Amino acid sequence: MTVIDETAIREDRLLTEPRARGIARILISEQELDGEIAAIAAELDAEYRDDQPLMIGVLTGAVVFMSNLMTAMTIPVQIDFMAISSYGAATRSSGVVRILKDLNEEIEGRRVIVVEDIVDSGLTLQYLLEMLKARQPKDIRVVALLKKDKPDAIDVQVDRVGFQIPDEFVIGYGLDYAGQYRNLPYVAVLDPSVYR
Ligand code: PRP
Repeated sequence: MTVIDETAIREDRLLTEPRARGIARILISEQELDGEIAAIAAELDAEYRDDQPLMIGVLTGAVVFMSNLMTAMTIPVQIDFMAISSYGAATRSSGVVRILKDLNEEIEGRRVIVVEDIVDSGLTLQYLLEMLKARQPKDIRVVALLKKDKPDAIDVQVDRVGFQIPDEFVIGYGLDYAGQYRNLPYVAVLDPSVYR
């Protein structure tokens, strides 16, 4: 895991692109993302070399990380996706989420890798893991690209974190603000003037 220092000076060359309008600064560069993802892929290659794991991506934010992670791996994998959504702020705090799209695959007896873009409060992952464990997979490993440094977050299973980041609103590399910014090739911090 790489700990991101929020005071670090980042590449700002790309901030003039149309897709980068409203961004305050780059938090994690493409090079840093590539390096960490290569390391995670190598670890997963070693862990699952005798198996064919099922990678489960949590839509929508995880698509960029999941795509780059699986193509960096050299063992055969299968993939599937789940889409879940909270009912709103009140139910989110209680951890109740709604399944918008369930898995296509059965996971009983299988080795499963859950791929998340970010763990914030931990509620989404907590609910998801409870649901998946009830289906009796052989084992579950959780890989999250980002984890916020948040003392009050739920202590939920995360086996591998790419980057621990400050508790800021981050976008890019799959993460959105109001549906925008998912196609940025880096993780960035949004200028507060955009959402205030
Ligand atoms: C984000 C992210 C995680 C979740 C993390 O999803 O992809 O699934 O929030 O937050 P938590 O730890 O506080 O539960 P979001 O609901 O924003 O949907 P999206 O992936 O479609 O953007």
